[in-house]
Amino acid sequence: MGEFDGLVAAVTGGASGIGAAIVAALRERGARVAALDVTEVEDGVRADVTDDASVRQAISAVVDRFGGLDIVVNNAGIGAQGTVADNDDAEWLRVLDVNLLGMVRVSRAALPHLRRSRAAAIVNVGSIAATAGLPQRALYSASKGAVAALTRAMAADHLREGIRVNCVHPGTADTPWIGRLLDRAEDPEAERAALEARQPHGRLVSPQEVAHAVVYLASPLATSTAGAGLAVDGGMQDLRLRPR
Ligand SMILES: NC(=O)c1ccc[n+]([C@@H]2O[C@H](COP(=O)([O-])OP(=O)(O)OC[C@H]3O[C@@H](n4cnc5c(N)ncnc54)[C@H](O)[C@@H]3O)[C@@H](O)[C@H]2O)c1
Repeated sequence: MGEFDGLVAAVTGGASGIGAAIVAALRERGARVAALDVTEVEDGVRADVTDDASVRQAISAVVDRFGGLDIVVNNAGIGAQGTVADNDDAEWLRVLDVNLLGMVRVSRAALPHLRRSRAAAIVNVGSIAATAGLPQRALYSASKGAVAALTRAMAADHLREGIRVNCVHPGTADTPWIGRLLDRAEDPEAERAALEARQPHGRLVSPQEVAHAVVYLASPLATSTAGAGLAVDGGMQDLRLRPR
């Protein structure tokens, strides 16, 4: 018996990287899982988190297919680079639309179903950028800082309805996203080395390590954990090691 036996989960951005690892980890532990993504995947449900009608349709499709919904993982997200001066209003709105409002739309559509669950949980995927000041990440950091604050507010609103809301904050993780970022760098190897050196444990975080933290927060065994932000960043947020 897996701890998620009988539970149904929807994972946004489940077609790639961290989301795909979360889908696999929840399935391994017995959950029935739908990946909600703009990219179609086997056993997935097509959904664009920037489109309210598409999100509502996808959540209904998950409930029709599996008979309910217990766990939502709000993982879909996009990146943005630059200082506060570098992006225009349209870019700010585009990134906030995915990274912040995407979570709002999915959670809003899911709440009526989660209220009927015996083990309801929402896990949002934040970032080290929510908790540390990183250069050239003004817009992305603002979007993830909002996710951290939204997580706490949602946790307070829904705890007494039996719905726990928590957040994971990954450090730089080895996903196709970072692959694309490295491909664009002048010297990809040096860029990768710099990203690895930035994390106290000296390497990128694996998507499976992030998935493991999501599994913990989503688990029916974690019923006293609400409003938490769990760092999965090799110590980047809290540790100060001496240089090697
Ligand atoms: N990779 C990292 O270093 C890192 C670090 C901290 C936080 N994160 C966060 O983790 C999450 C996943 O990142 P990843 O590295 O796995 O990225 P990724 O690019 O590999 O995967 C993201 C997935 O989200 C989907 N997606 C994008 N826009 C969407 C939309 N409008 N509707 C539905 N799906 C959409 C994409 O199709 C893709 O499958 C993001 O929220 C990201 O901010 C990543």
